[in-house]
Amino acid sequence: KLVALTHKLFLLQTGEAAVGKSSLVLRFVNDEFQENKEPTIGAAFLTQKCRLEDKVIKFEIWDTAGQERFHSLAPMYYRNAQAAVVVYDVTKAASLDKAKSWVKELQRQANPNIVIALAGNKIDLVQPVDDGEEDPVESGRQVPTEEAKAYALEAGLLFFETSAKKGDGVRDVFTEIAKKIPLE
Ligand code: GTP
Ligand code: MG
Repeated sequence: KLVALTHKLFLLQTGEAAVGKSSLVLRFVNDEFQENKEPTIGAAFLTQKCRLEDKVIKFEIWDTAGQERFHSLAPMYYRNAQAAVVVYDVTKAASLDKAKSWVKELQRQANPNIVIALAGNKIDLVQPVDDGEEDPVESGRQVPTEEAKAYALEAGLLFFETSAKKGDGVRDVFTEIAKKIPLE
C-alpha cells in the first residue's frame, strides 16, 4: 500500500486591516464565514491538509493582523514563509496601495523564492449595473480587475479575485500557490 508523503507549506496572510484575510483562511480551513469577524490580534496560526494530484499538502498558515500597530511583528512571520497571500478589498482603492507596499516589503526582505499571490477580496459586494450600454458597469467596485491584474503581472504575482463570504476563488488561491512551489 502506498502512503502519500505530507509536504508542509508555510504560508503568510498579509494586507490592510479588515480586507478579509482571516475570513479567507476561515473559508479555506472550515468552509465557514462570520459576518462580524473580530480583528486579529498579533497573528493566528491555522493548518489545513489538502490533496493535490498525488501529493498531500499541509498548509501551515500565519494569518497576521492588518492593524498598523502590529506591523513591526510581520518579519517574524514572513522570515520562513514559502508563500504569501497579500489581500486587498476590491471596494476600497487604498487597500490596493497597502497591498503594493506589502509586496515591496516581501520582495525586499522575505525569502527570495517566496511565491506571492494577490487576492482582491469581497467581490460579492460588486453588483453589475445594466445601463443599456455595451460595456458592463459595476457598482461598489473601486479597484478594476484589469488594473490589479496588470500590476500583478508586472510584479510577478499570482492574481485572484475572491469572496470569503460566498467562497468564490478561495480554494484556487491556495492550490495555485501549492502548484508553484517545488515541494520536497
Ligand atoms: P484584520 O485581522 O484586522 O487585519 O482584518 P482581516 O483582514 O482579517 O479581516 P476579517 O477577515 O476579520 O474581515 C473583516 C470584515 O469583513 C468582517 O466583518 C468580515 O465578515 C468581512 N468580510 C470578509 N471577507 C468578506 C467578503 O468576501 N465579503 C464580504 N461581504 N465581507 C467580507
Ligand atoms: Mg484578521
